[in-house]
Amino acid sequence: MRAVLRAHDVRRSFGTVEVLSGVDLEVSAGEFVTLAGPSGSGKSALFAVLSGFDTADSGDVLLLGEPMTEHPSWSDCAVLPQVMGLADELTVAENVALPLRLRGEEPTARVQALLDELGIGALGDRYPTELSFGQRQRAALARALAPRPRLLLADEPTAHLDHATVPLVLGLLRRAADEGAAVLVASHDEEVHEAAHRRLRLVEGRVTAGDLTR
Ligand SMILES: Nc1ncnc2c1ncn2[C@@H]1O[C@H](COP(=O)(O)OP(=O)(O)OP(=O)(O)O)[C@@H](O)[C@H]1O
Ligand SMILES: [Mg+2]
Repeated sequence: MRAVLRAHDVRRSFGTVEVLSGVDLEVSAGEFVTLAGPSGSGKSALFAVLSGFDTADSGDVLLLGEPMTEHPSWSDCAVLPQVMGLADELTVAENVALPLRLRGEEPTARVQALLDELGIGALGDRYPTELSFGQRQRAALARALAPRPRLLLADEPTAHLDHATVPLVLGLLRRAADEGAAVLVASHDEEVHEAAHRRLRLVEGRVTAGDLTR
């Protein structure tokens, strides 16, 4: 398997507190990997660095073998942030279509199909502020999946979902990996970790192999 994402000795401090203390990790094409770790351990801070949103103080982040840039294309690296980050001035369907428009494609049936699969097919014309948190989370996942990214980073993608909806989201994340994406998911949800090919854990600023007894 080929590494799509590779991080080596990544360090990041906020003030005097070092949150990331030499993170090493690799995610390959076709892999669905989860990252566990207590609240405040630095999962979101790590995702910010891995997605190019934030810059590490030192260390390397490579996307497809090249140093991570500040704004990678959605096709190379799609992100579902913990705060979701939908554009409030665009409808749900326009949000999901955005990564496709940015690479010059007219939105296809794929936009509606993703919304349908996530159980929000009737909400495409609404604005994000008119949706529940769980509905917004699914819209943000649809946006991340739309461009069939090489790397998908999803931060707590099931945090606002009911039990019946979690399998829909896990099914789509697994399918993205089956279709060749490298998928990395931060989560507190045991069900998410059980669906993974491989589990990692962030402990004291470093990533170690995880297990099922977090
Ligand atoms: N921009 C920032 N400025 C200052 N401190 C920050 C910043 N971003 C994160 N931190 C600190 O870094 C630590 C890790 O935060 P982070 O959000 O990455 O945790 P997390 O593992 O994602 O937690 P949760 O499971 O609650 O989402 C926290 O102590 C947080 O206060
Ligand atoms: Mg977080």
